[in-house]
Amino acid sequence: MAKQFWKGSSLLAPVPAALVTCGTAESPNILTIGWTGIVCTRPAMTYISVRPERFSHDIIMSSGEFAINLSTPDMVRQTDLCGVKSGRDVNKAELCGFHLVPASQIAVPIIDESPVSLECRVTESKPLGTHTMFLAEIVAVAADERYIDSSGRLSLSQCGLIAYAHGEYFALGKKLGSFGYSVRKKKKHRRQSGERSKK
Ligand SMILES: Cc1cc2nc3c(=O)[nH]c(=O)nc-3n(C[C@H](O)[C@H](O)[C@H](O)COP(=O)(O)O)c2cc1C
Repeated sequence: MAKQFWKGSSLLAPVPAALVTCGTAESPNILTIGWTGIVCTRPAMTYISVRPERFSHDIIMSSGEFAINLSTPDMVRQTDLCGVKSGRDVNKAELCGFHLVPASQIAVPIIDESPVSLECRVTESKPLGTHTMFLAEIVAVAADERYIDSSGRLSLSQCGLIAYAHGEYFALGKKLGSFGYSVRKKKKHRRQSGERSKK
């Protein structure tokens, strides 16, 4: 295949389009973040990269706390809105009709409508260039009980999550496999050919 080689850029897709809450119950803010991910399993660590000019930047810098609220197809319009409006000018929770509720470990409120919220405490802030990377420990997770089955398992696929790629939002769709399926042994067919199935 013929390739074109371009200069280095942030061309990774898909990424999440997460709703990050910061501030306090009295003075909350929400911004949309694409530059985020998991960087360690134990301790559970994440990062968000925020431009210093964002209203949220200094709030997170001084409080050392934020929450990552996963977004769903029902919330995609508000997700875009929180990514184009600034908390300097508007109360985005009110604008979006989101209900902010207390988190368990941090003073930052979480979005009630979000199926999963990660409560994060900053361990390091690193100015990288255009963005400051806030490395953080995930100190608690708030999961909507509607997506937890009787065995305590969280079924994220049921929430209908969204992804962001090249400036566009997508709903996660067809399941293609599950972890390790490529090496898992296939179950043998019990029925011999020609044998009738028992009801
Ligand atoms: C899909 C999407 C992803 C975004 N990702 C980031 C990001 O990773 N870092 C960032 O600093 N801004 C990002 N933004 C822009 C901010 O969300 C936007 O500037 C927002 O208005 C900042 O809000 P604030 O001024 O209230 O903090 C993104 C916007 C959108 C729509």
